[in-house]
Amino acid sequence: MTSRVDYFVTGTDTNVGKTLVSAALIRSLASHGLKVAGMKPVAAGAEVRDGTLWNEDVALLSGEANVSLPTHVIAPYLFKEAAAPHVAAALEDQHINPATIYTAFEQIRAQTEAVIVEGVGGFCVPLTPQTDMADIAARLQLDVILVVGLRLGCLNHALLTAEAIAARGLRLAAWVVNQIDPAMPHQAANIEALRERLSAPCLGSLPWMPVPSAALAVDTLDFSQLPHWPR
Ligand SMILES: Nc1ncnc2c1ncn2[C@@H]1O[C@H](COP(=O)(O)OP(=O)(O)OP(=O)(O)O)[C@@H](O)[C@H]1O
Ligand SMILES: [Mg+2]
Repeated sequence: MTSRVDYFVTGTDTNVGKTLVSAALIRSLASHGLKVAGMKPVAAGAEVRDGTLWNEDVALLSGEANVSLPTHVIAPYLFKEAAAPHVAAALEDQHINPATIYTAFEQIRAQTEAVIVEGVGGFCVPLTPQTDMADIAARLQLDVILVVGLRLGCLNHALLTAEAIAARGLRLAAWVVNQIDPAMPHQAANIEALRERLSAPCLGSLPWMPVPSAALAVDTLDFSQLPHWPR
């Protein structure tokens, strides 16, 4: 029996490249011939298109997947307002039920060999008064890939996130640098500081891209360092 290749992708913050890296992971797994899908358990920020809710992350992840699944399975909680999830949910008189997310995840697992789950915002974003995004990753027992958006403040965010991942009993499988701020000085020294402090491997450093592309990210990152990655 071959091992599944399931990962939870988190980031040092919102808007740091989680979707770009998740899309690249899905694209690469598909190119290896695995049946793969993405999941965005909670997405905040959607518009109505052709009578249904459309969210950019869901579209980008689905665009790379080779297993077609309904949106309500890929993204069981899709809210219109681009706000903190519990706030966006409340605006629609909804609340997030983690059990719904677990059921959707099992549905996806049943039809795939690999699932890439993208978190919302950073690792500990609250979902309900009792649950945060980290609880979801822990309940799904997923190894974590951390996207570090390279900008001032990211060292603290990255190290706090690594501590939080360990505190939930999860494994940081790898981390990725994303050069989201091309003007940031001392980039190499910042990356070096993380290399010295994070025990997981770094899969590479994504340059700032005038036109961000999952294909370019696949060419740049070394996913073969991930456990269970197809050869
Ligand atoms: N290396 C890069 N070069 C240029 N633009 C980038 C790069 N990485 C990401 N971007 C752009 O920055 C924005 C945020 O990236 P992305 O959507 O992947 O972040 P995210 O962490 O998934 O955000 P969210 O928290 O909203 O899910 C997007 O418009 C994306 O195209
Ligand atoms: Mg995203």
